[in-house]
Amino acid sequence: MNVSVIGTGDIGSQLARSIAVAQHSLTMANSRGPETLDRLAAELLARAATTADAVVDADVIVLSIPFAKMPSLAEDLTRAPASAVIVDMSNYYALAGVVDGLEHDDPSSAWVSEQIGRPVIKAWNTIFSRSLALKREAPGTPERLALPVAGDDVVAKATVMQLVEDTGFDAVDAGSLADSWRMQPGTPAYCTDLDAAALRAALARADRSRMAVDAAAEIAAVYRPGTGIDMVNGVEIYRNITA
Ligand SMILES: NC(=O)c1ccc[n+]([C@@H]2O[C@H](COP(=O)([O-])OP(=O)(O)OC[C@H]3O[C@@H](n4cnc5c(N)ncnc54)[C@H](OP(=O)(O)O)[C@@H]3O)[C@@H](O)[C@H]2O)c1
Repeated sequence: MNVSVIGTGDIGSQLARSIAVAQHSLTMANSRGPETLDRLAAELLARAATTADAVVDADVIVLSIPFAKMPSLAEDLTRAPASAVIVDMSNYYALAGVVDGLEHDDPSSAWVSEQIGRPVIKAWNTIFSRSLALKREAPGTPERLALPVAGDDVVAKATVMQLVEDTGFDAVDAGSLADSWRMQPGTPAYCTDLDAAALRAALARADRSRMAVDAAAEIAAVYRPGTGIDMVNGVEIYRNITA
């Protein structure tokens, strides 16, 4: 499959690595231009491109840029094939930039879809980059971690679920895009490194009325100005807050 990863920062670069390891044909783009990706592209045997070029012949396009920057991709995405599956792995929370009129418990991927003018599948947003790098396992490994995947098109969702499996995690169907608030910051499924059975239970017990408060508590507990998110202790902290 031709997979394009747009955004190669903390988590996008790690996802790109996992996709390359899974032997998919990989193209990467960032905001500064392909020449800044030469070293990573050589290491991963991948192609570096502008965003506009990266989407042209992609089967799957993963958007791994900050939430508030998503509207800036709308024009380039008009060049993507109609059949391309677009994946949103962003999260909406205060540090990512507040959008007027968008509440924390709204399905944020629906807003992304509106902004870019394309349907999206939501995936890989519920795992810290550290866990994505260190905790991938082969299929069938006992207690293999699982990631939720949400979206409205069943064929596109199945494609992304297979890619999630390829990157080392069980894929759990988390329902439609409207249901995807259950996998956003402040819910028990978010960045808590669960296996498939525990993840299904976590999605089911998500409580919309407390997720804004819990998300704020999560960030207050793990964010360190200057060094960013404490991902070493973050999983345990998030589990405790959303217990
Ligand atoms: N970090 C995590 O553990 C984690 C976990 C789950 C989900 N996420 C989500 O994943 C997304 C990326 O997070 P991150 O931590 O990797 O952020 P990051 O380290 O700040 O990286 C952001 C990347 O997006 C690129 N970018 C920004 N605007 C762009 C544009 N208009 N066109 C093309 N590329 C653009 C940047 O390009 P340059 O490199 O040129 O600056 C950079 O490569 C966010 O939505 C975040 O909520 C992150």
